[in-house]
Amino acid sequence: MALPAINPTTTNAWKLLQQHFNDVQHTEIKSLFAEDPQRATTFTILWNDFVVDYSKHRISSETMQLLLQLTDQCGLSSAIQAYFSGEVINQTEGRAVLHTALRADPRDTILVDGRDIMKDIAEVKEKMKTFSDAVISGELRGYSGKAFTDIVNIGIGGSDLGPVMVTEALQFYKNHLQLHYISNVDGDHVYETLKRLNPETTLFVVVSKTFTTQETLSNAITIKNWFLRYTTEVEVSKHFVAVSTNLEKITEFGISDNNVFPMWDWVGGRFSLWSAVGLSISLGVGFDNFEKLLEGAHAMDVHFKTTPPSENIPVILALLSVWYNNFYGAESQVVIPYTQYLHRFSAYLQQGIMESNGKSIDRNGERVSYETGNLIWGEPGTNSQHAFFQLIHQGTKLIPADFIGFVKPLHGDMSHHNKLMANFFAQTEALMNGKSAEQVRSELEGKMSDVDLEKLLPFKVFEGNKPTTTFLIDKLTPHNLGALIAMYEHKIFVEGVVWNVFSYDQWGVELGKQLATNILNDIEGSFIGKHDASTEQLLKVFKENS
Ligand code: F6P
Repeated sequence: MALPAINPTTTNAWKLLQQHFNDVQHTEIKSLFAEDPQRATTFTILWNDFVVDYSKHRISSETMQLLLQLTDQCGLSSAIQAYFSGEVINQTEGRAVLHTALRADPRDTILVDGRDIMKDIAEVKEKMKTFSDAVISGELRGYSGKAFTDIVNIGIGGSDLGPVMVTEALQFYKNHLQLHYISNVDGDHVYETLKRLNPETTLFVVVSKTFTTQETLSNAITIKNWFLRYTTEVEVSKHFVAVSTNLEKITEFGISDNNVFPMWDWVGGRFSLWSAVGLSISLGVGFDNFEKLLEGAHAMDVHFKTTPPSENIPVILALLSVWYNNFYGAESQVVIPYTQYLHRFSAYLQQGIMESNGKSIDRNGERVSYETGNLIWGEPGTNSQHAFFQLIHQGTKLIPADFIGFVKPLHGDMSHHNKLMANFFAQTEALMNGKSAEQVRSELEGKMSDVDLEKLLPFKVFEGNKPTTTFLIDKLTPHNLGALIAMYEHKIFVEGVVWNVFSYDQWGVELGKQLATNILNDIEGSFIGKHDASTEQLLKVFKENS
């Protein structure tokens, strides 16, 4: 069963939403609170350790009803069915999308081409556990007999961003192994990292779904050559393991079958941290914690699959996103985690969200006539408050914001945590309420002349009415992190269903890769081929001076 292919703008719900938007677009969120004492509870979902408060949005019950009708008319429930049951919903690549199977109950049966993939998943997980345990305990050792001290993950995109984000997020749960991530083809990245490594005690995990990615292969070759400066080819098998679907290419690279952790083409790169791509996570925090991460994601999967849309967190988040993107014309969304541990979270989401829904051709192969994927950005609070919050508060752009905070700190120092969380709560309140001219005037009265006051006043006014969603989560545990990531994954899915795009391909990254291959020939060859005048001129300068 294919995903439905419905142009959302042709639905009755879209037309009603357009009329509704015309009527309510200037409504102030704070006046909605004044009118309805129940508003905070009405627009809050309590789920496990999560409080998701979306009451500080420019929405009413009518808005939500119309948005929910939209998902209905876009065929969301049959799409969810197709997603979880392994239908080929990544149609342009002819693949199922089953990262959810990686964290499913092992007793389930999930078929791909008639084969129960749950058995394959269980085998790989077992191999990850045995391997991680042996490396962590020091039972598995390097070529000189010393235990491993450092792990290097070599991969890019989904083969890097997920593992690095999670291992940073779970620093608190980390063991003694030092993790390093090499992704960029820029030699600065690999050579700077190698400076800090001892070949005798370093384990390299080469992660590439395709095993054809230029960056990863170049880095892996450079590292292997560096390693061979210290020892011989036979020792490679003690220090290099690979995660990939491409066994042939792994063998060509010189990694033995024993050292391969398979993955499958029904796992998209940007959704792959739950597979053996998460090997570095399992090495860094132990397999038990990796499993807790999977369990948390599974809990969110169950919530998403079984909860009515009006109480379904990913559905609600996606609908808010559609509301601002398609009706208010908001181009970006910001994600602000109030924990330093999540400092790579926005970078991770950028791939997930923008590679998935940054599409302009719909599922009928037609150019869309409406906006699709958002720009995603963000940095942890409170640092971001001192960087870009000025623009969110007083700039001309509407930027819906996700605020993610935790009730309990991991370090236990409540004096720091209370200050952090005071900022967390203050910002969403300030963004909504703003500061009126009257408030500014009464603050400034008596402190300067009336003339000066009136001159300064407009600069100190905050319009407010800036929408935010607050996620207040009990604690940053592996389980809750898994649920948080899965929540965004399903939000992406719902948005893609509504926008009628194929969220699981990424043809848009291919053109640059192809041109780079041609240009590399120009750079390394004896003459420069045909390009536009600008590129030719730049290549000439580079070749003559490099
Ligand atoms: O950037 C495109 C992309 O294909 C991503 O989707 C993927 O995560 C990344 O490259 C890395 O690919 P691979 O794991 O095959 O090396």
